[in-house]
Amino acid sequence: MLFTSKFSSVLGLLCLTYAPEIFSRPLLPRQSTVTLQVLNDSVDTKLGCTAAQISTLQSALSDASSVAAVAARTLSGVALGGTNPEAVATFLGITGSELADQTSTRITSVGTEYGGSLGQITDLIAGNSDTTLRFYCPAASTTAQEGNPCDPGDEASTANLAEGGGAINKIALCDQFFVGDTLAADTSNYNADKAAGKLTSFRNPLSPGIVSQHSVPLLGGDLSLVLEDEAEDVADCAALPDSEKADNAENWALIAFLAQVDPSRFS
Ligand SMILES: *[C@@H]1O[C@H](CO)[C@@H](O)[C@H](O)[C@H]1NC(C)=O
Repeated sequence: MLFTSKFSSVLGLLCLTYAPEIFSRPLLPRQSTVTLQVLNDSVDTKLGCTAAQISTLQSALSDASSVAAVAARTLSGVALGGTNPEAVATFLGITGSELADQTSTRITSVGTEYGGSLGQITDLIAGNSDTTLRFYCPAASTTAQEGNPCDPGDEASTANLAEGGGAINKIALCDQFFVGDTLAADTSNYNADKAAGKLTSFRNPLSPGIVSQHSVPLLGGDLSLVLEDEAEDVADCAALPDSEKADNAENWALIAFLAQVDPSRFS
């Protein structure tokens, strides 16, 4: 395979663009299992993913699952210990049982779901249900009318069955998803910025966003758990009022990244 796993795609999977829509359905009951599916391009060449793209997605899902496992362990330990380490204070502003609950929803359950197998489908709509989550890859030439929700520079775009007008739980993988940086590059950027004292203004890992935090099935079927995109730059995320930090998708992507690359900030 020419494609290698891209860590920024990984963080992308843990974050992203979200257009809030009017809520018009009752909340779904908490779901235990999400069926992950990817639309291949054997029939639908406008929206389907190539074999190489599917391979990249598969690696990214598996890496996202591992990253989430590390973050879940770290944050659960913090919550249980009743401490408030610097990274958590800076990027989440919550402690104790609130941190435990949110970690379970935003990190543990997402990591578990991403660890499931990825089936292939040839029709984006047929066989759809409230517990299926479908990935697809709009081609650059596919128009909005033809179903491409991506704007240039987007990493991904989420739509939910539980939202007004939503018919499918789906995540479009956009151009930036496939050109992300590697974990090694993100880590070395981080270490250089840290050495320069930029603990709250390091370069964003290249595909931050949290797709997962905008996907209702991954959050247990509850639309009220979907987060906002209030801030994206690290400095802006750190500067949010404490009461808003844990409501911003990117802050969860950053905390997962930090748990991976700099455990010292959690002690
Ligand atoms: C696409 O998915 C279908 C259904 O799972 C499968 O039969 C087919 O082999 C896949 N095509 C490619 C090119 O992977």
